Amino acid sequence: MHIDESFSLKGRTAIVTGALGLLGKQHCYALSEAGAYVVVCDIDEKKCCEFAKTLPYPGMGAGADITKPESVKVLRAKILDQSGKIDILVNNAAINDMFENPNTAGELSMFENYPIEMFRKSMEVNITGTFICAQVIGSEMARAGKGNIINIASTYGIVAPDQSIYKDAEGKQTFYKSAAYPVTKGAVIAFTKFLAAYWGNKGVRVNALSPGGVENNQDKYFIDNYSKRTPLGRMAKPHDYKGALVFLASDASDYMTGANLIVDGGWTAW
Ligand SMILES: NC(=O)c1ccc[n+]([C@@H]2O[C@H](COP(=O)([O-])OP(=O)(O)OC[C@H]3O[C@@H](n4cnc5c(N)ncnc54)[C@H](O)[C@@H]3O)[C@@H](O)[C@H]2O)c1
Repeated sequence: MHIDESFSLKGRTAIVTGALGLLGKQHCYALSEAGAYVVVCDIDEKKCCEFAKTLPYPGMGAGADITKPESVKVLRAKILDQSGKIDILVNNAAINDMFENPNTAGELSMFENYPIEMFRKSMEVNITGTFICAQVIGSEMARAGKGNIINIASTYGIVAPDQSIYKDAEGKQTFYKSAAYPVTKGAVIAFTKFLAAYWGNKGVRVNALSPGGVENNQDKYFIDNYSKRTPLGRMAKPHDYKGALVFLASDASDYMTGANLIVDGGWTAW
């Protein structure tokens, strides 16, 4: 197969969950630019439909709550009705918890004080939601004998957060990255390996993509701290993961399953 052809997604149907977020939109563009019919999936159906119209190759919008099996079953039925098959699932939806009040964030985000309800909510969306999508949509792929699942993990599923990057210029700890995010992202990587082994003989490939931090109007001290801590000397741009995603989604990675592709500017290299 010619190399251009191996990266092409022409004729493939791809779903992206959390598609209206910072990276979700980029994933949709990447898959669409490679020729896929993209199903834009997030909570707000109307916005999903509006965004789907902006894609370079026509797609569809579909609202779904990934924490609700019934909602994901309706999504599966809609896609099968529309396109007759599902080739690619990008499990991208997740929450990265925030503390509204910057004056109390440093205190409340400490592990010793971290609210259990926030931990449970992260588990529910980041891991149980990923499980539900894989079960409902991946089962259809296994039945069809072909499919490709990409679970979006994180560098923080591989290495511990460096809490010092949340210190401002005066050395004040403004925030602590909680245990919830690394725990759920580590679980996403373990779940990826489980599914790869489980469905290998059904023609379903399952890989993880672990991005590093994306620059998105954070405080200057944070961007500086993060950049200094990164071998490539900068945070990611939102479009930095497009190539890796298309690689995993396409035949170019046909002999790859159970892997975790780390794209992090070198963050985890030292
Ligand atoms: N942004 C980063 O720096 C970064 C770094 C590493 C990994 N990641 C991972 O990349 C993925 C995307 O991150 P992002 O920064 O674009 O996040 P984001 O917060 O911008 O977007 C997440 C999207 O998920 C949707 N969502 C939340 N709960 C949902 C539910 N129950 N059902 C359906 N949709 C739901 C939200 O509506 C939102 O549009 C996540 O898995 C995240 O953990 C992000």
